[in-house]
Amino acid sequence: MVTKADRTHEVLLWGATGYTGKITAEYINKNLPLDLNWAIAGRDRKKLESLNEHLKTLNPTRPLPAIEIFRLKEEDLNILTRKTQLVISTVGPFQLYGSDLFRLCAQNGTHYVDSTGESPFVGDMIKANDDLARKNGSIVAVSHNRRIFDAPTRRVDVSIHSLKGSVSGGTLSSFINAFNRYSFAQLYAIHAPYSFSPKKPTPTEPIKSSSLWIKLFGLLYIRNLGWLGYQSQSPIDRAIVHSTWGLLDGTSERYGDSFDWHAWVRLWGPIAAIFWHFTLWSLTALFSLRPVRWLLSKIWYKPGNGVAADKIQKNWLEYRTVANVDDGPTQKPAKKRKSVARLRFDSDPYFFTGVTLAEAAKIIVRRNDTQAHQLGGGVLTPATLGDSYVAALKEGGVTIEVKSAEGKETVKW
Ligand SMILES: NC(=O)c1ccc[n+]([C@@H]2O[C@H](COP(=O)([O-])OP(=O)(O)OC[C@H]3O[C@@H](n4cnc5c(N)ncnc54)[C@H](OP(=O)(O)O)[C@@H]3O)[C@@H](O)[C@H]2O)c1
Repeated sequence: MVTKADRTHEVLLWGATGYTGKITAEYINKNLPLDLNWAIAGRDRKKLESLNEHLKTLNPTRPLPAIEIFRLKEEDLNILTRKTQLVISTVGPFQLYGSDLFRLCAQNGTHYVDSTGESPFVGDMIKANDDLARKNGSIVAVSHNRRIFDAPTRRVDVSIHSLKGSVSGGTLSSFINAFNRYSFAQLYAIHAPYSFSPKKPTPTEPIKSSSLWIKLFGLLYIRNLGWLGYQSQSPIDRAIVHSTWGLLDGTSERYGDSFDWHAWVRLWGPIAAIFWHFTLWSLTALFSLRPVRWLLSKIWYKPGNGVAADKIQKNWLEYRTVANVDDGPTQKPAKKRKSVARLRFDSDPYFFTGVTLAEAAKIIVRRNDTQAHQLGGGVLTPATLGDSYVAALKEGGVTIEVKSAEGKETVKW
């Protein structure tokens, strides 16, 4: 087994030359501790040297990261994973390029954090390497219910309240690759709500399924969140949050037996909700056609590119969450108790990804007291990094607010 002392770096950023990789490198260069021993890695020395020149202009007094050159070959990746305590990977599509690295990290006892949004990749990695990984804001609301109300959590609804951002060439290429490789039926099965969880739920109250109004017309209103529509990232995020539920069950941080998580996007009103519903399904049907995907890849940004960094500084991302207290099937209080949370990041969603990756890496290598550390490893979710992670995200410019609320039934349709 490789020991800590054998490893040259604490953190190695694999894919540093890509769109998300550069953003993550800039964030580490600006915000992570000055004594962090880190490296940027990729296959192209010139690109990495030019990235280091850029980093120097941004922060002239900070020591530059080491440069490491590797090819996407098993023997190279084996050396890579033995040289560092933790790998951050932004090399995608992950289904094409991620599996060997993931397996070698598991084999060599190297921590691993990535930017994937590809659930088939996550599913395959869990099957092959056990357990699970990824991010969401619900840890705050859930832990708030436990602390303030001394009760577990039942239904949680998260909505993208507002967002300004775009999609990089690398992200589009990952989406296209998933649709090229899997049929709708396979993708549906991969996205089942508990497909990544180490255990299945046994709720004390049956979990309500969506009403016909939601299924047919997308008409959903939730107090504190507003009118809502379906969000295409929802199935992967749901499977990951439910995996956190499974990982934390039986620990002091447990979410509760009837925990059930849903993600939406906020819309202006009922007419917008119906319009969104039919537009989204039509676009999904179009995207399922191979020629449409081919055309999109020709007219959109190519991998490695996206909107220029100086044009996205004024973008933003805001999530809102309602987490209902689980008061059990028999003892119903007069009013439903819940926590309401808001997460806002006043810059581009790709910068948000950079913050989440870098801060998770810092906590994993620099601390040893999180739930993730106590679980002792495996494929975990970022939520298992707990309060330290929330505090680190705040330091990284993410605003997170949680408050208690009381009211009538929160879900209306
Ligand atoms: N979940 C989220 O919210 C989220 C957010 C952001 C990104 N992502 C995901 O992160 C991934 C990266 O996105 P991106 O826009 O940054 O992509 P990108 O700009 O195309 O960057 C890809 C990186 O992978 C490297 N790479 C590609 N093929 C390689 C190979 N054969 N050998 C070695 N290195 C290789 C590239 O190196 P070269 O420079 O040498 O070509 C580059 O560094 C995508 O899968 C995307 O979906 C997810």
